[in-house]
Amino acid sequence: MTEAVANATDKLRYDRGTVLLHWTTALLVVIQFALGEMWDWPAKPVHHLMVVTHLTAGMVLTAIILFRIGWRITRGRRLASLLSPVDRFCALAMESTLYMLLLAEIGLGYAWRWGAGQAISFLGLLLPSPFTPFSSGTIWWIETLHSWNAWLIVGLATGHAAAALFHQFVIRDHVLARMLPAGTLLPRTKP
Ligand code: HEM
Ligand code: HEM
Repeated sequence: MTEAVANATDKLRYDRGTVLLHWTTALLVVIQFALGEMWDWPAKPVHHLMVVTHLTAGMVLTAIILFRIGWRITRGRRLASLLSPVDRFCALAMESTLYMLLLAEIGLGYAWRWGAGQAISFLGLLLPSPFTPFSSGTIWWIETLHSWNAWLIVGLATGHAAAALFHQFVIRDHVLARMLPAGTLLPRTKP
């Protein structure tokens, strides 16, 4: 591929930072959900390890989401829409909702742990609660919202992924290819 073709193809995709941040977020969300839904199955030492992993990965996810929103606003590449106005509206509504639900899930996670008077463990390093514990009624609400919001995020992300696959393989407009690393799925551009 000549340099000109490589550059043209490059501009059809999101920049490397956006792609990396998108797939790291997706992976962490799946890990978080799987840990939270499965940690009641094994005995205590493994259960404890899974909770600590959830808390550590939760802190990494916090940093990634905040960085990602900053990157999106400042340096992330903007691409012309490949979608019809209605599809574009639906995609933007879904993506903004996912950002908001992820931020809410993160806030609820810290509120649950710290509000119950427990420290958050980052790779075994204990970060104590910066505020006084909440009442048990408030903690019940936080637990319930964190648990149901997790299902909502996973449900919406599944719909979002299905839409991306439908666009890529049925409508064939290369929407998914734009969010993949260079060299995957996009047709070669003529010089
Ligand atoms: C998208 C990200 C996240 C998802 C999908 C998620 C999902 C879950 C799920 C499914 C549970 C189990 C709920 C239940 O037992 O009914 C849970 C529990 C919990 N999560 Fe998250 N979570 C996320 C992020 C976070 C973050 C960022 C934190 C805080 C750093 C956090 C802290 C907690 C705590 C403290 C529990 C309860 C642990 C225990 O039972 O001792 N979560 N989460
Ligand atoms: C938990 C999983 C996921 C979350 C939270 C998530 C979230 C998001 C968000 C917030 C955006 C907007 C990016 C921006 O403009 O800032 C986005 C874009 C995108 N996502 Fe996901 N995503 C997930 C999984 C997936 C999967 C599994 C696929 C594909 C199978 C996918 C395909 C795409 C594509 C193609 C775009 C770009 C759409 C466009 O150009 O308008 N995502 N995603």
